[in-house]
Amino acid sequence: MTKVILKAEGLSKIYGSQSGVMYTALDEIRLSVEQGEFLGIMGPSGSGKTTLLNLLSTIDKPSSGQLEINGVRPQTLKDAELALFRRRELGYVFQDFNLLDTLSIRENIILPLAMDKLPVDEIDRRVQESAALLGIESILDKRTYEVSGGQKQRTAIARAIVHRPSLLLADELTGNLDSKASRDVMTSLTGLNERLHATIVMVTHDPFAASYCRRIVFIRDGKLFSEIRRGSNRQAFFQQILDALSVLGGEFNDVSPTRLP
Ligand SMILES: Nc1ncnc2c1ncn2[C@@H]1O[C@H](COP(=O)(O)OP(=O)(O)OP(=O)(O)O)[C@@H](O)[C@H]1O
Ligand SMILES: [Mg+2]
Repeated sequence: MTKVILKAEGLSKIYGSQSGVMYTALDEIRLSVEQGEFLGIMGPSGSGKTTLLNLLSTIDKPSSGQLEINGVRPQTLKDAELALFRRRELGYVFQDFNLLDTLSIRENIILPLAMDKLPVDEIDRRVQESAALLGIESILDKRTYEVSGGQKQRTAIARAIVHRPSLLLADELTGNLDSKASRDVMTSLTGLNERLHATIVMVTHDPFAASYCRRIVFIRDGKLFSEIRRGSNRQAFFQQILDALSVLGGEFNDVSPTRLP
C-alpha cells in the first residue's frame, strides 16, 4: 500500500492588512501526496503558490484547516518540537539557492547535519552519497563563487536531501537558471525521485521545469483549479501543461522559446 506523506484538508490562509482589510490567499485547499510522488504546483502570479508552500513547509501557519506530514500534525507541535520536526522531515530548495558564500560546497551540504552529532565518517559518507546523486562530486572543495548557477542549485538540493527528509519542497528552483542549467537541475531532481523514491513538491512558473513532474495541480485565486498527470512522454506533457495554463489564464510571460523542450 502506498503511504501518504502529505495530507491537507480545508487549508486556508487569510492575510490581514494594517487597514483591517482581510485577504483570502488560500481557500480550502485539499491535497494528498503519496510517497515517491513528484508534484508540481502551478498558477498565475499572486494565486497563492508561495503561501501554500510556506504552509506545507510549516514556516507559516494556516488560518484554518488541517495539515499532516508523514503522520504528524505540525500545528499540534510546540515551537522546539516543530523546529526539530522541520529539520528532520523536510528539505527545502529556494530560487536564490541560499548557500553560505563563506563556506565550501562540501561545508554547505554538511550544514543540516551539523546539529545531529553524527560520526565524521558517517557525515563523509552522506555528503559523498548526496553529491554523487546530484553529480557534483568534483566541486565539493570549491567555494560558491567558483561554481555555476546550476551547480549552486544542485548543491542546494544535495543540502536539502543530506539528512534524508521525508518531503522535499522547492519554490521556483529554476527561476534564476538558464535553460541548460534548468535542464541539469530538473534531470537531477528526476533522478532523486526515481532512484531514491524521494517525495517532491515543487512550485514553478516554468512549464519546462514542470514537465519533469509526474502530476501538476493548478491553483487560481487561492483555490485548486485543475490537475493533470503525465504519461510516459515528457514532451507531450509539456504541451498538456501549456494547454492547461491557457485555460487557467493569468500571466505566464516567462514561457520563452529557449525553454521549449
Ligand atoms: N504576508 C502577506 N500579507 C498580505 N498579503 C500577502 C502576504 N503574502 C502574500 N500575500 C498576498 O497573497 C496572495 C498570494 O501570494 P503568493 O505569494 O502566495 O503568490 P504566488 O502564487 O506565489 O505568486 P508569484 O507567482 O508571483 O510568486 C497575493 O495576492 C499576495 O499579495
Ligand atoms: Mg511565489
